[in-house]
Amino acid sequence: MSLEIVILAAGQGTRMRSALPKVLHPVAGNSMLGHVIHSARKLDPQRIHVVIGHGAEVVRERLAADDLNFVLQDKQLGTGHAVAQALPFLTAENVLILYGDVPLIEVETLQRLLKKVSPEQLGLLTVTLADPTGYGRIVRDADGKVAAIVEHKDASDAEKAICEGNTGILAVPGARLADWLGRLSNNNVQGEYYLTDVIEMAVKDGLVVATEQPHDAMEVQGANDRKQLAELERHYQLREGRRLMALGVTLRDPARFDVRGEVSVGRDVLIDINVILEGRVIIEDDVVIGPNCVIKDSTLRKGVVIKANSHIEGAVLGEGSDAGPFARLRPGTVLEARAHVGNFVELKNAHLGEGAKAGHLTYLGDAEIGARTNIGAGTITCNYDGANKWKTVLGEDVFIGSNNSLVAPVDISDGATTAAGSTINQNVDKSQLAIARGRQRNVDGWKRPVKIKKD
Ligand code: UD1
Ligand code: CA
Repeated sequence: MSLEIVILAAGQGTRMRSALPKVLHPVAGNSMLGHVIHSARKLDPQRIHVVIGHGAEVVRERLAADDLNFVLQDKQLGTGHAVAQALPFLTAENVLILYGDVPLIEVETLQRLLKKVSPEQLGLLTVTLADPTGYGRIVRDADGKVAAIVEHKDASDAEKAICEGNTGILAVPGARLADWLGRLSNNNVQGEYYLTDVIEMAVKDGLVVATEQPHDAMEVQGANDRKQLAELERHYQLREGRRLMALGVTLRDPARFDVRGEVSVGRDVLIDINVILEGRVIIEDDVVIGPNCVIKDSTLRKGVVIKANSHIEGAVLGEGSDAGPFARLRPGTVLEARAHVGNFVELKNAHLGEGAKAGHLTYLGDAEIGARTNIGAGTITCNYDGANKWKTVLGEDVFIGSNNSLVAPVDISDGATTAAGSTINQNVDKSQLAIARGRQRNVDGWKRPVKIKKD
């Protein structure tokens, strides 16, 4: 059965008190609408139609993609009116309605719902709540069959006592939609064209309304204000934490762990508190990540150890390599197996060969460093002359003394040594020692200056 998806995202979201359209507010680093689109794509629809209104241009700009058809709803006259805007584009047998501000809906739940839709049947996602205030209520007949949805504001006291609420998520046979939407009226308390009125029409037309429920009510929770946004965020994070734990990760505290992207993990990974994983992060077996680390768009191979307070972005850390505490690995950093980066070390576009070490207080930018080479404390590459960036190339088994300035472009060959405190601006050949510093002179009988007395 062919499927198209309509995502309603035209509402204003006044309670966010924000210049940003509501559906662009982030949960776990992606906009709420972005999450819905991500889940929608997994259902493999023919096309996804996004109904936009408030902040339409920004939304379109931020999320533009080939498989998305943005439909403008000039005035927000109700959910039924919103779906009607997409009608001219709909051709599929089944149409699924989703909401741009309901980001945690699970693909599995939607798949269950889609199994219910047919030319003779609608699939309606409902949720049973202790306090369904604000929700449209599911009115069932004496046989328990769905008869209608009554909006909270239009409901009688008896209807308000119903605990089964409408999530708004609905799967309908596309062939019927135009007829039903065309017959909607706005003769109700809110003066809106309610999508929910389609239910009663369908029943009167002899169709069955079959219901499904999400496993978790948070899946259908929308965010109208920043408090609800924070609740969705925490819920998302706990869900992601549980997923990783199920795959063999120990999280020292799932409540202090955040994923803002897509993470893949191996087994026996240990993640300490306050770790943020962003973008695309790949973590292999036996990796240990210490507290307060941010890791973005990086790959950590088997057995990598990242110590506390490190910031790692766009880096690949080879098997058994380690970094931190307080390491900063910037884009283009590659550590080969067992390379070691210690505290207060910054690397950018730098390649450390197997077993190479930069233990303390060092900046290596645009650098190629051979296997087993040791970089002394306080060493920096002077890679920028104010106009251009230049490369520093060190061979294998090089020993760079402490507090060196390596003035790029410069090339230091295998086995060479540089003396502590050197400013190296000439190439060094294999196994040579380079000393480039003022000679020490000791002055006898040196008189220290004395403090001048002020009257
Ligand atoms: C709607 C349902 C209600 C359900 C509730 C669940 C209707 C009439 N009611 O009520 O049964 O229990 O959701 O949260 O459908 N939107 C547009 N254009 C519009 C109007 C709305 O794009 O003209 C979008 C909004 O941005 C929002 C969504 O549709 O994302 C729901 O609209 P809203 O007005 O919040 O509906 P509710 O009153 O919450
Ligand atoms: Ca709502």
